Amino acid sequence: MSAQGSRLQGKVAIVTGGSGFGAAIARRFGEEGAKVIVADINTEGGEKVAAQNPANLVFQRVDVTQAEEWKQVTDLAFSKFGKLDILVNNAGTTYRNKLTLEQPTAEVTDDEWERVFKVNVKSIYLASTVVIPRLIEQGRGGSIINISSTGAARPRPGLVWYNASKGAVTNATKGLAAEYGPQNIRVNSVAPLLSGTGLFSMFTGMEDTPENRAKFLGNVPLGRLTEADDIANMCLYLASDEGSFINGTEMVVDGGKCV
Ligand SMILES: NC(=O)c1ccc[n+]([C@@H]2O[C@H](COP(=O)([O-])OP(=O)(O)OC[C@H]3O[C@@H](n4cnc5c(N)ncnc54)[C@H](O)[C@@H]3O)[C@@H](O)[C@H]2O)c1
Repeated sequence: MSAQGSRLQGKVAIVTGGSGFGAAIARRFGEEGAKVIVADINTEGGEKVAAQNPANLVFQRVDVTQAEEWKQVTDLAFSKFGKLDILVNNAGTTYRNKLTLEQPTAEVTDDEWERVFKVNVKSIYLASTVVIPRLIEQGRGGSIINISSTGAARPRPGLVWYNASKGAVTNATKGLAAEYGPQNIRVNSVAPLLSGTGLFSMFTGMEDTPENRAKFLGNVPLGRLTEADDIANMCLYLASDEGSFINGTEMVVDGGKCV
């Protein structure tokens, strides 16, 4: 349990994807005084997260692949809380790692490819067309945090197109940072190592058991997988004024795996 604090006091955030990392990010932001809109396509899960801190968290059903829904959630931030300071593009998806198949990546279907690029990349494009103009109009800058992956820089067999989508996330982050820095809109990405969230089985192609988790620890100097709070704490730093000169970077949160 993290301490209550005031590192985001007076700030308003949208966090997309309210389970796994997103649930921890929203909770941590709320503990530090932010008003947070948890935006997820899954109403049941998102409402549960928001109910943990009703004073600071609200749920809004959002499909991040739909422009109209970005408009609605951005309008909600302004109508309910009067402003917007922080956007965490965390919602993401993958297809199941195909390593058990004979020709893993050659067997990725059209539908799988499109879903991954829509949820992971188009969502950030849409956010940039809807949210950035509102931040500029507001004139107070902002912090946008895109959840990428260690696979963006170090792609591995079986997840080629997922990793390529995260490569696009990391690259777009840098481009947006360069373009909108002059308006004091900071854009950074966070690259987690594998975690034991709901996506574990999809990423590894294996059931989430202690034995299977142990198979991924060998090359991690700190000897464990990513915890959701590792990502939440990095996002907290980037979202807060402590990160006010951090722009266009990729924060790798991997226990030293990718050195
Ligand atoms: N878990 C890992 O090992 C890991 C590692 C590196 C990067 N990541 C990235 O971290 C992010 C969060 O992953 P997680 O592990 O917490 O996954 P998760 O599956 O627990 O959470 C993803 C959330 O996104 C939501 N979502 C999916 N499609 C959506 C849509 N169209 N509109 C709105 N919401 C949608 C889901 O409902 C879910 O709540 C993702 O971007 C993922 O690619 C995860």
